[in-house]
Amino acid sequence: MKTFILYFCIICKWQSSCNALKENFKIRETQHQFAARTPYCRQITLRLSPMAPHGSSRKWIVLATALVVAGLATGEGTVEGQKRRPNVVILVADDLGIGDLGCYGNTTIKTPNIDRLSEEGVRLTHHLAAASMCTPSRAALLTGRYPARYGLVGEEGTAPVVVHVASRVGLPPEEVTFAKALSAANYTTAAVGKWHLGMRCKLGGFGCRGPQEHGFQSFYGLPFTLAAELEGPHDFWLFPQGERFYKILARLCLVGVLTILVWGWLVKCSQETQNTLFAVLALGLGVAWFVHTHYRFHTEKWWQVSPWMDQHLNGILMENTKVVEQPVTLPGLSQRLVDYSLDFISDHAHDENPFLLYHSFAHVHTPMFTAKHMEGKSEHGRYGDNVEEMDAGVGAILEALRLHEIDDNTLVYFLSDHGGHLEAIDKGQRTGGHNGLFKGGKGMGGAEGGIRVPGIFRWKGHLPAGKTIDTPTSLLDTLPTLLDLVDLPPVNSLLPDLPERDLDGVSLAGLLKEGVDLKPRSLIHHCRQAIHALRLVVEKRVYKMYLAKHKWSPGSTQCGWGSNNLCSCYGDGVEDITFEPEVYDLTNDPYEDNPISNETTEYTHVVGALRQFLAEWKARVPYPPSQFSNKADTVLSPWLQPFRIPFL
Ligand SMILES: *[C@@H]1O[C@H](CO)[C@@H](O)[C@H](O)[C@H]1NC(C)=O
Ligand SMILES: *[C@@H]1O[C@H](CO)[C@@H](O)[C@H](O)[C@H]1NC(C)=O
Repeated sequence: MKTFILYFCIICKWQSSCNALKENFKIRETQHQFAARTPYCRQITLRLSPMAPHGSSRKWIVLATALVVAGLATGEGTVEGQKRRPNVVILVADDLGIGDLGCYGNTTIKTPNIDRLSEEGVRLTHHLAAASMCTPSRAALLTGRYPARYGLVGEEGTAPVVVHVASRVGLPPEEVTFAKALSAANYTTAAVGKWHLGMRCKLGGFGCRGPQEHGFQSFYGLPFTLAAELEGPHDFWLFPQGERFYKILARLCLVGVLTILVWGWLVKCSQETQNTLFAVLALGLGVAWFVHTHYRFHTEKWWQVSPWMDQHLNGILMENTKVVEQPVTLPGLSQRLVDYSLDFISDHAHDENPFLLYHSFAHVHTPMFTAKHMEGKSEHGRYGDNVEEMDAGVGAILEALRLHEIDDNTLVYFLSDHGGHLEAIDKGQRTGGHNGLFKGGKGMGGAEGGIRVPGIFRWKGHLPAGKTIDTPTSLLDTLPTLLDLVDLPPVNSLLPDLPERDLDGVSLAGLLKEGVDLKPRSLIHHCRQAIHALRLVVEKRVYKMYLAKHKWSPGSTQCGWGSNNLCSCYGDGVEDITFEPEVYDLTNDPYEDNPISNETTEYTHVVGALRQFLAEWKARVPYPPSQFSNKADTVLSPWLQPFRIPFL
């Protein structure tokens, strides 16, 4: 009887899948006619019919067989696998502004896949990054804790983020990420795409664990990030003769050679001694040339290296601990990353254990590059093309979930790590995102445009579809929320052997499922390690108090122009208003046009409450110095550099 029911189930399932598939093939056929065949299309077609020849009847036979097998797998799953927890897919866009998506009100950019995700899930309109730069924001996302707690933020005069693969800074091994927590609960975990939280390789560049040190069982992607310098070519042999250092070097060389020759002639020393002296001279001058040309110790930004070094040493692609591309080939990178995720999904869709896929897009960070078939398609230049290519990647991943019929058993969370980079410009074209009507952007700790990000949760049948939530939420809430949604205990009970830790995030499960209000909370907005603003959330009211503000270029909410331009968090670029804070009522004035008068009781209450919170916070949570203030740990250390070993 049981067998009969199972058989019946398979037939039913097969019927509906068949129709879906037929439809899907129609769409694919047309897509093939229009656009060039994207790797995504190939991928999904191959995945469904591994040996399908081009003849259509044989293709259908193979497909039918594949479906019966798939049906069997799911059939079995429903009979005995009631307790299988949902899969988790986290999609992280890089530097994407909240104003860059159709579902957040952009009328001209085309993001149909993300828009559909939002129609099928919960869209957060007041979703906040814990920092406005990649490294600290991602650290907060993964750990649920402010990165200032473990020094993964910049300070005055340091780098703002992890700047080299070959360095010792990064997410401390004792921090617990959601990957570590879900791994402990038998999830199969993978990180794909940008990491940017430190690799900490061993001598010779071996044993770079990065994501694998933090609960991700596999990794394929960029240990660092995209950066303008990754788009080459850059010269290695540089000798700008006009510069003082090189003039001195040339003179030293000349004087050195002459001295050795004259001295050798005078004392009649052997040819060998002379050659040794020449070698010592060449080595000394060579080292001086290299360090001056390829390191930036002599500048204020002492942690930087030359564009050639960045491209060749930081611009690498790794698979687990192995370097597979050096330097990374940019065209097609988005597709290669997505293909890897599609493989991962297909390999684990019907496993006994659920999976966690953390797909962190390389886009839409500078430099701008797109596959040929997406180039020039958008109405917003190369930046728009990048957004649309990223959206296509989201589409491919969602499509894979649908084709494997794990849609309703997979929690999908889409977000951006922080606001768009307003200053970014290249070849006369803006290459940064659009933060809607919010003021400011990337690199600005307190300014709303730097931290207000898109956030969409979808879990069909478990979370409401097409719902919008305006309650303030944070990327810090991710870890507790995920554990709660997949029905696991909080992190301290899940991992009782590890030391207890305080989380700064709270679970949003009740809010997402049933709109249950969160408890009143205060959020801190850091600019590097400095606290630039605080937010008070009490029931439906939200206030923001500024202690420091950026001095923007007149008539704008940004700090000049340039691909590497960012507002500074300290010094002359900032106006300190600690003694007369500015307060905004975000409930009635979301774009912060009119500060509340400091003569109102409302002002006094908000400032009083937040000052008290801040004093208690500072007493309770002392910040260690920034990891980046340790020069030896931060600068590029060649002996820690992983290399691609040819033929391996
Ligand atoms: C849509 O996004 C583009 C690209 O960032 C931007 O230039 C444009 O202003 C946005 N449009 C709207 C209506 O938000
Ligand atoms: C993980 O798997 C082990 C062994 O199968 C099992 O004992 C344990 O309960 C599982 N953990 C969770 C959280 O499901």
